Amino acid sequence: MSFKDKVIYQIYPKSFYDSNNDGVGDLRGIIEKVPYLSKLNIDMIWFSPFFVSPQYDSGYDIADYYKIDPIFGTMADFDELVKTLKKHNIGVMLDMVLNHTSTEHEWFQKALTGDKNYQDFYYIRDPKPNGDLPTNWESKFGGSAWAKFGDTGKYYLHLYEKRQADLNWHNPDVRKELYKVVNFWYDRGVENFRFDVINVTGKDKELVDYTPGTNPKLIYTDTPIVQDYLKELNHATFGKNPESVTVGEMSTTSIKNSIEYTRPENHELSMVFTFHHLKVDYDHGQKWTKTPFDFKLLKKILNDWQLGMSEGGGWNALFWNNHDQPWAINRFGDPIHFRNKSAEMLATTIHLLRGTPYIYQGEEIGMTDPDYQSIEEYVDVETLNAYQQLIANGKTADEAFAIIKSKSRDNSRTPMQWDNTKYAGFSQSTPWLKPTTQKEINVAKELSEGEIFSYYQKLISLRKKLRIISEGSYEPFIMEHESVFGYVRKLNSQTLLVLNNFYGKETHVKVPSEYLTQDFSVIINNYSEKINLTSDVELKPYQSVAFLIS
Ligand code: NOJ
Repeated sequence: MSFKDKVIYQIYPKSFYDSNNDGVGDLRGIIEKVPYLSKLNIDMIWFSPFFVSPQYDSGYDIADYYKIDPIFGTMADFDELVKTLKKHNIGVMLDMVLNHTSTEHEWFQKALTGDKNYQDFYYIRDPKPNGDLPTNWESKFGGSAWAKFGDTGKYYLHLYEKRQADLNWHNPDVRKELYKVVNFWYDRGVENFRFDVINVTGKDKELVDYTPGTNPKLIYTDTPIVQDYLKELNHATFGKNPESVTVGEMSTTSIKNSIEYTRPENHELSMVFTFHHLKVDYDHGQKWTKTPFDFKLLKKILNDWQLGMSEGGGWNALFWNNHDQPWAINRFGDPIHFRNKSAEMLATTIHLLRGTPYIYQGEEIGMTDPDYQSIEEYVDVETLNAYQQLIANGKTADEAFAIIKSKSRDNSRTPMQWDNTKYAGFSQSTPWLKPTTQKEINVAKELSEGEIFSYYQKLISLRKKLRIISEGSYEPFIMEHESVFGYVRKLNSQTLLVLNNFYGKETHVKVPSEYLTQDFSVIINNYSEKINLTSDVELKPYQSVAFLIS
């Protein structure tokens, strides 16, 4: 239970700080920045993968689970990083990508040479009798989910990039090998883990076509056997330590299943990442579209998950940003006119909810999407495939580019901006991905004259200080309001009323008499003017305020 008052920070090592000036971030770079991280008072850092990888999917295509990729450093650097963080009371969470390996992984290579044991590590299938691909499944990164397995005439399954082959979790030897990986890192001092797309591990043994017209992902996602796999994983690895914090990245999951994944009695995971709330700017459920976000839907989803998980005894990870998402300020705030206020409002919204908040590197200084001018500036494989696909589907180059610009994963992968120099103080040589907004947004400026970083410090300290934030129940409030997401947290005789204005216009909130008392305090407010708890509270553009009523 110890994770309820914790705040976790995500580092994308490629883009955090480059200590050896090769244009790519590294572990020694992170060590140098530990004092900065410690100022924020975060409890733990989730590191995106830095294991040996050809980097076709930026490290989520692992070729050796047991070694640090030389572009990031050495095992000695890793050990020093863990030690340094521990000295600052910061825990380590590693990213375990156990659904698939790189096709350069030894297991896949052995399978290719004809080793039957290793062929059974993957989903390798014959074409259909008529020569069609084994199933009609699509890769999440575009095109079919099947690729030729050498010159055998067979195909292997890849739900992601074609150089990421899906592992066959039905094979007990596969699971044993994967648990060995987790234990290897556990024994090196890592207690906490994030499990990448862990709910697509439960594919059937017999793979069949999905029915056109149905959601194609449902045939392999969130199947009941995932719960068994997670129980087994828990038991075989981190479960021995009640202090371990784990989070499963869940694709297209449900509240019902997420309760099961995270109820402590089930001994599966501490919490889950779910993405429904980030799909509210998808047109007809399609990511590669450009459309304003649907505020009513966003509220409904946040509310449904808060209520559902709370009633079922589950636990949610709370987040807006990560290395797969464009910046939330660009999607749900106003990066031009109200960058500070909208950054703070978004932060307040999730930090005071029930769950464990995550901060993605750069969020604490209000980073925004880069201003790229051409598709050549993008690197991410999913983005480049989507661009080709959009053109193939009839979009003009300008239309396709506008969509890419709003949705690309590279938006949040640009280097952390430490200062206003050419390479943003990230490196002395050309970074692997170009920063463009460092003149306005950088750590040096933020720490000397900004307000977002200190606002995050305040939110983090509030979660540690007030049990109503870490432990309280959740109740909806003014669900029908056009521009405010409000909610109530309760613990014993205390009530916390949180109001967040999601728009750049002033608005009013009618507060029912049951909340009106002289005995209240404002625990946080992103404007300096005094605000009172009255029957008619006026909120300024992107204002957030939380009233604690005793
Ligand atoms: C989710 C990761 O966050 C993403 O970056 C990656 O491409 C896929 N899983 C596949 O590993």
